[in-house]
Amino acid sequence: MNLKDQYKVIEFPDFGDERGNLVVIEGEGIDIPFDIKRAFYIYGSDSTVVRGQHANKETEFLLVNVAGSSKVKVDNGKESTIIELNRPRMGLYLSNKLWKDMYDFSADSVLLVLASRHYDGKEYLRNYDEYIEYLKNEGLLNE
Ligand code: TYD
Repeated sequence: MNLKDQYKVIEFPDFGDERGNLVVIEGEGIDIPFDIKRAFYIYGSDSTVVRGQHANKETEFLLVNVAGSSKVKVDNGKESTIIELNRPRMGLYLSNKLWKDMYDFSADSVLLVLASRHYDGKEYLRNYDEYIEYLKNEGLLNE
């Protein structure tokens, strides 16, 4: 699998008017490819913090910096890339089975995360070597 097929930057519609901005994210294939089962948000992190540092076997995510900015490094065991989230209308879709690091949070960063599944600690891979072994066992990475 090529990394460029495992993530997507999405620009959401803004129904803003003179009263302000209104950004909508519809699930189930309308704006993002999955049915939204969970939402969480991260704030109060700063430029010294690295979050994530895990891969999810099943869950797909959509990340939006609804305020401030942060960076996300995604890695599929073969390739990696860094995406900066810095606009409330910009979403980053991440497929499952990707290693993720979130870092360089601005002081005002509020990172909203929408997820395709409820939380289940068992589907997290929190050790990079274990992640690589998992990919090999799934036939997603050559020996
Ligand atoms: P963690 O995975 O370390 O967060 P991040 O991806 O931002 O680095 O999660 C921190 C704690 O919160 C951990 O004990 C698991 C718990 N948690 C839940 O209970 N439900 C959730 O949906 C999430 C994302 C985390």
